[in-house]
Amino acid sequence: MTPDAIPLVLVAAVGRNGVIGGEGTLPWRLPSDLRRFKARTMGKPLLMGRKTFASIGRPLPGRETIVLTRDPGFAPPGIYVVGDLAAALELAQARARAMGAKEIIVAGGGDLYAQTIGLAQRLDVTEIDLEPAGDAFFPFVDPALWRETLREPHPAGPGDDASFTVVAHERR
Ligand SMILES: NC(=O)c1ccc[n+]([C@@H]2O[C@H](COP(=O)([O-])OP(=O)(O)OC[C@H]3O[C@@H](n4cnc5c(N)ncnc54)[C@H](OP(=O)(O)O)[C@@H]3O)[C@@H](O)[C@H]2O)c1
Repeated sequence: MTPDAIPLVLVAAVGRNGVIGGEGTLPWRLPSDLRRFKARTMGKPLLMGRKTFASIGRPLPGRETIVLTRDPGFAPPGIYVVGDLAAALELAQARARAMGAKEIIVAGGGDLYAQTIGLAQRLDVTEIDLEPAGDAFFPFVDPALWRETLREPHPAGPGDDASFTVVAHERR
């Protein structure tokens, strides 16, 4: 990426065991973190894999959704669809500039996080105090590459399955 590129931020909720999802859905109920995700991503382009988009089921209001798929027939209304990561990043840069956004958000799932962690400037991880079964994972955050800049514990709020800690990492 060029020096004037708008930075990529991975935003994820992650169990203590690295699990982020199972059978196409989230393995917990955490309305507090959904509210946080909304506030964190409003006004920004979101990059996501087709499976994550399927689990959400609609474009998220106030954001622009860019979905990656290798299926040329995939064309739901209200989103951008792209066929490879380079095209997705290029479109995300253009949309972020058009929106006046200072970040591009990678919103998952595991496949997308794994492909973009090497390109990201920041990781915003909600560490959930659970170890659920699952089949989608957040990649290893190597402390040699990432510096923790925030660690903020929260008790479980109303309707939350567990307590959680908001953690931010900046690329060293
Ligand atoms: N806890 C969290 O913060 C969080 C966040 C998001 C998602 N999730 C969970 O994560 C799970 C989904 O993650 P996942 O890893 O299974 O799938 P995913 O990353 O959401 O989507 C994978 C799909 O994206 C498309 N894709 C990926 N890379 C591509 C590329 N380079 N070029 C073109 N298309 C590409 C492919 O779609 P096609 O098969 O259509 O070609 C691939 O099958 C769900 O359980 C979801 O609930 C959790």
